[in-house]
Amino acid sequence: MSSGRIVVTGRIPDAGLDLLRDAGELWAWTDDEPIPTDVRDEQLATADAAVTLLTDRVDDDFLDAAPNLRIVANVAVGYNNIDVAACTARGVTVTNTPGVLTDATADLAMALILMSTRRLGEGERLIRSGTPWQWGMFMMLGTGIQGRRLGIVGMGGIGVALADRARAFGMEIVYHNRRKVSDAVESRLGAHLVGLDHLLESSDVVSLNCPYSDETHHLIDAAALERMMPSAFLVNTARGPIVDEAALVEALRSGSIAGAGLDVFEHEPDVHPGLIELDNAVIVPHLGSATVETRSAMATLAARNVVEVLAGRAPVSPVT
Ligand code: DGY
Repeated sequence: MSSGRIVVTGRIPDAGLDLLRDAGELWAWTDDEPIPTDVRDEQLATADAAVTLLTDRVDDDFLDAAPNLRIVANVAVGYNNIDVAACTARGVTVTNTPGVLTDATADLAMALILMSTRRLGEGERLIRSGTPWQWGMFMMLGTGIQGRRLGIVGMGGIGVALADRARAFGMEIVYHNRRKVSDAVESRLGAHLVGLDHLLESSDVVSLNCPYSDETHHLIDAAALERMMPSAFLVNTARGPIVDEAALVEALRSGSIAGAGLDVFEHEPDVHPGLIELDNAVIVPHLGSATVETRSAMATLAARNVVEVLAGRAPVSPVT
């Protein structure tokens, strides 16, 4: 039975759409291209629920176009694309998709650690360029990670899942977080909480797994990069603007850090041209949650949030 009009602003997997179809009158944008604003606003005019992607900016303009809106269900764990205060002021519930993308994102962070320390992007490019090569004892030597220290900035679910993976590779874990994780998790990981400066100065690999906010904007700036060891690597699977990308290019160019593995960029989808030129930067296009299973689970969770709110019940995963 229809209990509201639902607008989906971008392509999402069928698992989510099927649930939404049962929950109300569904309208979904089905192109890979971003929805034009005039089309979006026309649809939002009568929408009770909006299902959004991380590329949608949910701000006053969006909300002005949607006077009946009761929920914005973001198909992402990160919700820096949403003005939560503006939504709350208008009585609009905001939800995200925590948990379901933890493993996929932690896998990708681990992959970037391995890719950057073992120079895998560089090796791929060498072969694909047709450059003649011969196996040699000194060819393209990387850095082993066993016994090295991984410093995790942001010890939520993804940070912990990455730490579990890194432990299996023999890494030692320190982390920086607003609060200490439980004693049980710390002791399983052999991890301890440290200050950010200490983490930056002592870690062989620094991985960013914190949310993006005003507080974490350019958390990794020129001064932070300067604190890192010349042999250290930076991995970012969180959000691009946590890093001052121009400063990172400079640090990679000058050798003040050894390398970086990046899934996210400051001005996505644009990538700093310096990063594209640099062999010690591994760059992939925001693939953290990009598995068939995970994207389906994300769409399903977003849809479940819509179902609950339209039925007058509490959402499954509200943004608090
Ligand atoms: C998220 O959910 O915030 C991720 O960045 C999507 O891959």
